[in-house]
Amino acid sequence: MTVRPHTSLDTELLSEIIREQGTPTYVYDARILDAGVCRWIDAVGDPSRICYAVKANYNLGVLARLTTHGIGFEASTVGEMARALAAGIPAKRIVLGGVPKPPEAVEEGIRRGLDLVVLQAAHEVEAAVRAGASLEGPPARVGLRVRPGIRAGAHPSLETGRADAKFGFGPSEIQEAWIALDGAKGVEPTTLAFHLGSGLDSLEPYEGAIEVLLRLVRDLESSGHAVRELDLGGGLGVAYDEDGADLEPAELVRIVRERLDGTDLGVRYEPGRSIAARAGTLVTRVLYRRERDGHPALVCDGGFTDFGRFSLYGAQHRIEPLEGSLEGPDTVEVLGPTCESGDKLGTERPLHGVRPGDLLAVRDVGAYGFVMASNYNARPRPAEVMVDDDGWKVVRQRESLEDLWRGETVG
Ligand code: LLP
Repeated sequence: MTVRPHTSLDTELLSEIIREQGTPTYVYDARILDAGVCRWIDAVGDPSRICYAVKANYNLGVLARLTTHGIGFEASTVGEMARALAAGIPAKRIVLGGVPKPPEAVEEGIRRGLDLVVLQAAHEVEAAVRAGASLEGPPARVGLRVRPGIRAGAHPSLETGRADAKFGFGPSEIQEAWIALDGAKGVEPTTLAFHLGSGLDSLEPYEGAIEVLLRLVRDLESSGHAVRELDLGGGLGVAYDEDGADLEPAELVRIVRERLDGTDLGVRYEPGRSIAARAGTLVTRVLYRRERDGHPALVCDGGFTDFGRFSLYGAQHRIEPLEGSLEGPDTVEVLGPTCESGDKLGTERPLHGVRPGDLLAVRDVGAYGFVMASNYNARPRPAEVMVDDDGWKVVRQRESLEDLWRGETVG
């Protein structure tokens, strides 16, 4: 890919990128990605204990950049694992995470020699035992995801550790699953895991969940089974409506160390959003302006098929004009172009002075942005661009119309 020079990451640069790439386009700043990882490395120390949740942003350029820091990666599907491998990440640095998966995924994870495979239902344990039986060489490390029964205080769709969640084993089911693995050839149970949810705005839920895991560690120990590490999942939220005030990894690490004092348990973290979100901006162009129920609205060429977080979770991201004025008394709705009235990027945004043709920057969309984009209304998905000190490059081409029917036939 050609790298084009730039002088600074500002309006001028984003305008230049858009002149060449059109809208809507995702732009990632590699230096902010670096800062996101370094915040975790500074807090945790050993980079291999940080397993970036690939689902947050799995562009190969993003993964390749993150792997230069020596961190690990958490993939929740065979597809995410394949992407990580395609980005040049060694299998030994990849965890197959504790998200529901078919038996074939567990078998493939074990066959590939991943760092860890986290199992979260009985059929996954059975698949691991089967795969281990035919494994040559050292045993595959496996873990069990626990559903600790903790409310994380996140958006209901993003809470995953509650007693009624579909994920993981209830605490009372752990002994039996662990014993099945401990007795099996080719697998070695090492880890108890949880993931409480995503977008947490308090660290308190971790404290309760760690207590649940520590009780399980003690129960297993007293029946002769040693747990080597805890995997605490992801979850740290980002304050989307402002610039800063995010939860600090260092504060989480401090709490974890305090709770685990006196044990020799290792710890693994799986942050996604807190590494990638701040690095991304989605640039979209205003097509026209319209009054809706007496309130101004801007209709843009990017909408919920490109960035779905407002439509899905009501997430209000900062939306700023690249140039032009904010002046005017009213806030506006920012709407997408598709055939649905719920297609919105945000509401009550202070963009009164924005005019048709102006460019808008939707901020902090580096996590759960492009990865959740769809082709609904047969809309090609946006381009993705990466900016670095020495210039910018396209890390994913905008989809073409032909891309939209690739693999289909007419007869
Ligand atoms: N580990 C596991 C097992 C997970 O399921 C997840 C996220 C993570 C780690 C990373 O969590 P994070 O640090 O990014 O909070 N689409 C939603 C987010 C769904 C996250 C699902 N699991 C959104 O746009 O907010």
